[in-house]
Amino acid sequence: MARVLSGIQPTGDKHIGNYIGAIRHWVVDQDVDDCFFFIVDLHALTAHPGPAELRESTLRVAAVLMACGLDPDRCTLWVQSHVHEHAELAWVLSNLAAFGELSRMTQFKDKSARQQLVGAGLFTYPVLQAADILLYRTDRVPVGEDQRQHLELTRDVAQRFNGRFGETFVLPEAAIPKVGARIMDLQDPTAKMSTSAESPQGTINIVDPPDDIRKKVRVAVTDSGREIVAREDKPAIANLLTIMSVATGRPIPDLEAAYEGKGYGDLKGDLAEAVIEYLRPIRERYEELMADPEEISRLLEVGAGKAQKVAAEVLAEVYERVGLLPRRQA
Ligand code: AMP
Ligand code: TRP
Repeated sequence: MARVLSGIQPTGDKHIGNYIGAIRHWVVDQDVDDCFFFIVDLHALTAHPGPAELRESTLRVAAVLMACGLDPDRCTLWVQSHVHEHAELAWVLSNLAAFGELSRMTQFKDKSARQQLVGAGLFTYPVLQAADILLYRTDRVPVGEDQRQHLELTRDVAQRFNGRFGETFVLPEAAIPKVGARIMDLQDPTAKMSTSAESPQGTINIVDPPDDIRKKVRVAVTDSGREIVAREDKPAIANLLTIMSVATGRPIPDLEAAYEGKGYGDLKGDLAEAVIEYLRPIRERYEELMADPEEISRLLEVGAGKAQKVAAEVLAEVYERVGLLPRRQA
């Protein structure tokens, strides 16, 4: 069985881009492979969240993941900071990642342009991500398109480590879906949908109430002309058709044929209702789960225990290989 692993940020509300590009694939993977999913609260520190907000949103994202269908009985689900080996391996690997290659990371360039205090943690963010992945001898990492460069760096670091200290790490493959790996902002179809978008109207959250979804779809920007086709010169309509296709399970060419001669208003009306129905069961399950936060914490603790078993073993091997003097057994 392949080892599959992926992480998700606890900050902000999770949106339909996260669901379409990543989470829905994880739900499928957990029945096929040996799956590890975690909430990257250590990574979240690079964006300087408030402590209360971080604590609360970590729990909420756990509930969202479970509501989407991640089942702690069928996968290992935990909070990154509960397994201290992530941070420890990141320190070791930070000596194998080059300053120059980290400087070229596009996420670093984007995010550092938007921050007042650009912390060293933001710069070494991809090293912690490499540690997350390598610590579990991961074969496959299902992510959206924006993570491709981080995965390449992970492979480079693993290769360098193996070359210098002997075969230790598995080289992970990125698994990026063909459709929906980059859902765009409804207010700006040239930017990916994201929590940090300038206009919250452009982001449909997984647990948005139906009326919010109707409003966001209604005011979504469109392209010039009136044709409903997923063409490169129609990025807004192509994005709406992609979301519609995922939400209804109908291929894009079918949708194009069905909307021939119809207007943007028709598409938007149908899209809003399709998305509402698509997300409804998740939202309902989320409300139920959030009524019992104690149970969420319990499930996360079980997950941390399972994850740490693997992580501790791999970290011990790494410490030995790099020559850290073992602590004498008492
Ligand atoms: P994040 O919320 O940034 O931790 O992202 C969690 C997962 O969702 C990652 O695998 C991302 O690549 C994916 N993702 C984030 N934004 C989008 C988007 N707009 N379209 C598709 N996938 C996305
Ligand atoms: N950087 C990823 C994101 O923003 C989150 C992440 C952290 C991750 N560690 C990971 C994803 C390990 C996959 C594997 O979405």
